[in-house]
Parts: sequence; C-alpha cells; structure tokens
Amino acid sequence: MSTNTVEHNRRRYDFSGIESVWLFGYGSLIYKVDFPYLEQRPAMIRGWQRRFWQGSHDHRGTPEAPGRVATLVEKPGAVCKGMAFRVSPSVFEHLDVREKNGYLRFSTTLTFDDGSHAEGLVYIATEDNEAYLGHAPDAQIARQIASAAGPSGPNADYLLRLAESLRALGDDCPHTFAIESLVRSADSGDRSSG
Ligand code: SIN
Repeated sequence: MSTNTVEHNRRRYDFSGIESVWLFGYGSLIYKVDFPYLEQRPAMIRGWQRRFWQGSHDHRGTPEAPGRVATLVEKPGAVCKGMAFRVSPSVFEHLDVREKNGYLRFSTTLTFDDGSHAEGLVYIATEDNEAYLGHAPDAQIARQIASAAGPSGPNADYLLRLAESLRALGDDCPHTFAIESLVRSADSGDRSSG
C-alpha cells in the first residue's frame, strides 16, 4: 500500500447521517489535540499492543532518515490504554491528512473507565504500508528516535510526551517506557560527556 492513505481512508466509511464518531487515540492523538471534539474520555481497547514500528517520513523524520512512531500490533489478551474523543465526522478530513503516512482507520470496541462500551475508529499502520519498519531491538529503536527529526519536531519529543501522557493515564506500556528510559539515559550521557 502507498504511504499516502488519504484516499484509502476517505473511501473506507460512509459517515452519512452520522452526527458523531468515537475516535481512539493511543499515540500523538492523546497529547496533540489539534482538532475539535465534543467529548473526551480515557478508554482502552483490547487485543492490541502499542509498538514503535511505524516509520515517520512526514512528521518526526524525513524520507531519507525516517523517525519511528507508534502503531498497534495485534496480541490476544493485550490491553492498550489511550484517550477517546467523540468528534464530528468532518474532523476526519483533517485527521486523514495528519495520519496519511500509512495509517488506515479501523473500527474497534472502546471500553471506558466505568466499564461501558462504544464502537469507535482507530488509526493503525499495518505491516503492508510502505513506511512500516517493524520490530527492532529496543536499543536500535531508541537510537533511531534520538537522532530523527521532521517537520513536527524531534522524534524524541513524540516519545517523551507520549510516555508522560501514558503515565498520566495510568497506563503501563513496558515497550514505550523501556525506549523512553534508553533515550533519556543517552541524552544525559551526551550532556555529561559534552
Ligand atoms: C494515534 O495517536 O492514535 C495514532 C498514531 C499517532 O498519530 O501517533
């Protein structure tokens, strides 16, 4: 699949007659809320885990030196916490452009903190998109994140802001926190040696 998913996503769902849609954010959508919403609630989805396996050519890296950003990978029994936003369908015109580097909208069941459920949409970059990088050892992912930057800023900011947001949500994401710790210690090592 091409790296630009805008047209793919526009054809995916017919929003006619629908007033609002739940969107589940598990990456930058948690902390960079550059879209209007009607309601916001912490939520989780089941069967998916967060992984820094998606390349970023357009936000946190460049085509020559891609960054690494979060996507979801299926894992039975896994729980991924994030933030749910109830949005007007027109918001997807903006979000599809923002998430165009490989992410497709999938429908999923959201569980809110009070145990209630709703159907919603989530952007996932699957392994068949051209920007997908896949698994690598944590140390390699951390090095790539520490050195990459793109039009939206340093890749490390994406990671550190996400890790802080997950802590605030009470999420335990060992993958994110392990890479965060490697990036933070490389940064303090640089400062003490420089
Ligand atoms: C998300 O945040 O839900 C999608 C991935 C991202 O934009 O970081």
